[in-house]
This record gives sequence, C-alpha cells and structure tokens, in this order.
Amino acid sequence: MVVAVVATSVFLVEIEQGNEVTVVHIPVRGELPARLGPSVKALPEYGPSVMDASVYRDPTRFELERERVLGRHWMLAGRSEQVQGSGDWITYEGHDECIVVVRQADESLSAFHNVCRHRGPAIVAEKTGCGARRFSCPYHGWVYDTKGKLVGIPEREDFGNDHVTDIGAIPVAVGEWGGWIWINLAGPDKAVPLLESIGPDISNDLGAFKMEDMILHEVIEWDVPINYKAIVDGFNEIYHVTELHHSPPEFTKATRFASFHVTGDNFMCFVPRPVSLDELSSDSYDHHRNSICHYVVFPNTVFNCNPEHLQVFQPIPLGVDRTKFLCWELIYPGDMNDPEYASYYKKTMAHWEVLKGVVGEDISIYDQMTRTKKSSAFNEQILSEREFKIAMYHENMDRKIRD
Ligand code: FES
Ligand SMILES: [Fe+2]
Repeated sequence: MVVAVVATSVFLVEIEQGNEVTVVHIPVRGELPARLGPSVKALPEYGPSVMDASVYRDPTRFELERERVLGRHWMLAGRSEQVQGSGDWITYEGHDECIVVVRQADESLSAFHNVCRHRGPAIVAEKTGCGARRFSCPYHGWVYDTKGKLVGIPEREDFGNDHVTDIGAIPVAVGEWGGWIWINLAGPDKAVPLLESIGPDISNDLGAFKMEDMILHEVIEWDVPINYKAIVDGFNEIYHVTELHHSPPEFTKATRFASFHVTGDNFMCFVPRPVSLDELSSDSYDHHRNSICHYVVFPNTVFNCNPEHLQVFQPIPLGVDRTKFLCWELIYPGDMNDPEYASYYKKTMAHWEVLKGVVGEDISIYDQMTRTKKSSAFNEQILSEREFKIAMYHENMDRKIRD
C-alpha cells in the first residue's frame, strides 16, 4: 500500500448463523435482454477523443459540481441493514455536507441536514446510533424529532415566534433500493424519483443480484488525495487491467469481448469470464452467470458484480482533490453448518482476498496521480475508443454544471 493513501478503518459483520437460508442465490438473466452475444453491439460509435484535465483540479468547477451535481443526484448513504430498528441512525459526510438518516417507527426513512437551525453546529454528534426518540443540539439544547422537526427550544419566549414556528432541520430526499440507502440533497420536493434516476436497464439487470438479500461482509475506507472523478474514471475502463493488475492473457483476451452500454446518465459493462468465451456465439449467453457485470450510477456509485459476490465502489468527494473512497463487499447469507454454504463462503472469501489485492493496485496508481495532479504538463487526456465512458461521463458532468 502506498504511503499517501491510508486504510483508516475496516469493520466486519458476521455471517448470520441460522437455519432460514441454506441456498445461496444465483443471479440468472431470465427474460432480460442479451448484453453479450452475436446480436449485441459491443461498443457505441463514439471513437477516440481528447479531454481537458483541468476538471480534476479547478476549485471553481468543484463548487459548481457541489451545487449542481452532488447536490442534485442520488448517492449512497449506507446499507439498509445499518438502520434496522426504529430510531436507528447513520450519518453521511462529504463535499462539506452533513446528513443524518433515521429509521422511523413505520419502517420508512427520514433524512435531514445535520445542521442546527439556531446557529449551525451538527445536531447529532455520533456517526451512528440506535433507538433515538429525539436529537438535542449540544450547544443550547434545541430539540428535534427523528424527522428533523424542531420540537423544543429552551427559553423559547425570547425568540421571535415567526422565526421558530413550524421549522426543522432542512430535509433531504431519501430512498431504499437494492438494500442500499440513497440520498438526494435536492430535497423531497425536488429530487427526481430514485428509480427513474437508476433507470429500468440498471434496476432490472442489477436487480437480478438481489442485493437487498445480501449482507455486508466488509467495508474498507481510504483517504485519497485526488479528485473523485479520477477514481470513477478508473472504473469506467478496463484497458488498465493488463498492465496495472497483471491480468493473465486469457483475461486480457476476454476483455476484448466486453460490451459497453450507455443508459441515460449511467453505464453498464459486461466482461465475459474467460471460461465462457465459447458460449458467446449464442444470444442465449447468460451474462449474470458467466460474466462480471459492472454498473455505474452517475455521479459516483459503481457496482462490480461477480455471480457469487459483489463490490461497491464509492468515491465520496471531500474537496476538489481529496476523496474518501469506500469499497463495500457484499455476500449472500447462509448457514455455516451447511456444507454447501461453507464451501460457497470459503471460495468467495478466497476470491475477495484476491480482489482486495486488485483494489490495492488501483489505489497505488492514485499515488502516482497525486504527484502529478497539479503539474503544468498535465493538461489533457488522450482516450481510446474503449475509454469512451470516461469521455461521456465528463461530457455529462459538463452538461449538468452548465444547466
Ligand atoms: S446552536 Fe444548536 S441549540 Fe444553539
Ligand atoms: Fe482496476
């Protein structure tokens, strides 16, 4: 691991021991459209391109992204299982925003800015907690309910009645899909519906993995001193796997058969497993069972799905050139006393160990990018046609900050 990038925390959630689930879910394509095969166009007609490199270091642009992209799009705040009981909460912090998400008694979620309406400090001090009924600001004791409504003010008679009646912490839109908690800072009245944002292609295709039935095995966090978009870029191409990840020739060969799909603001990419290449001659090829399925939800959520387990990559911008990078590992739950499940678990963990090494290689390149991020020689990027997703992602970002 490079010196500039430090793994700051790792936590584990134990596999549930129980008899309810003994068979591991196997994602299958079913009636979904072919994503690999003879009738599928593998690459859109975009072609090679060149793009401006200032997008990674321009502070003015970052402020526009904060307002018009990070402030208006759906992003992950955590897993649903992290807030199971009434009053359980988690916080989200990034791009100078501070949010709290709370499970309600009716099992719905509420989210609001963790910012006191009196004079602005965070209302909720802890990062996570359980069973809250009220939140009390530590400064002067203003009290908020679990939906963020202001319900108590010490010495209220000293305030202007109009100033403090029917107010609360500023609300944030919140939704759940795939076992994930998603937030949108545009707020409940202005946010585009979550499923519209994910889009039917991704919700159906990624939906086959039933992430809502998976459990969090591990999340790893790095503090990376580069722009979050440079990290998303690394997941928008597979060109680097041979050099950076030393992938064996058969995998490099398989990547040449990958297909890339644009769906609204988002992307899908399918990389056949080398052993399945012979099956690619048929349109009945099942990409869920036989390929690595990869989905990017604009602006910063990346799902990397193997048939047996999946990783979610979440670069959370902290500043124009600093990012909190989370890697979430999800597995299917089961009974460790069941030999079938124990075998699944052992194989999956072995693969996860390999993938952690691969992610470490991705992290190592960020150290090289840190050295050159402000160099006068880094003014543009030259992209191949198979790196078109990078070009389109940044065009999309341009469009959003112009509109
Ligand atoms: S700042 Fe929160 S109660 Fe005064
Ligand atoms: Fe990589």
